[in-house]
Amino acid sequence: MSLLDVHDRLDELFLRHQEAVLLFDVELSRATLDDYERELVEHMRFEEDALFPIYERALPIAGGGIDLFRNEHQKLLRYVAGIRKSFETLRPRETGGPTRIIELLDFEAKFKNLLKHHDLRERNILYPVLDRVASPAETRALLSRPPAEA
Ligand SMILES: [Fe+2]
Ligand SMILES: [Fe+2]
Repeated sequence: MSLLDVHDRLDELFLRHQEAVLLFDVELSRATLDDYERELVEHMRFEEDALFPIYERALPIAGGGIDLFRNEHQKLLRYVAGIRKSFETLRPRETGGPTRIIELLDFEAKFKNLLKHHDLRERNILYPVLDRVASPAETRALLSRPPAEA
């Protein structure tokens, strides 16, 4: 389903952010995190507002409750807020700076792991179920959204 392409795009944006972190470029790290967060929030909103109401018709599904998806969204956003907070005091080129960068990357690795599980759950449950329960008209409407919202 082409709606899943947005996951790849988000991963790509996060990679841009991590490259900037690795280059000790705090300003670019922050700007790329902003881009990432904006698109992530937009994507979550799309899933919650446009997809969940359709998906809901197929419930109950083991391991695929709406609350589970919503809670994961909230948890992911808390992680992003935590990443953002670390930039308030990050001075990569000062004493202890490189250690802080390593800590940040470790924290981001936890975030990526959580995200991977969330994406898998959507790929294996949410999106296939939607394919099954959405009417042809609904599917057309979902797929005709501008890419940024998909
Ligand atoms: Fe999601
Ligand atoms: Fe998603």
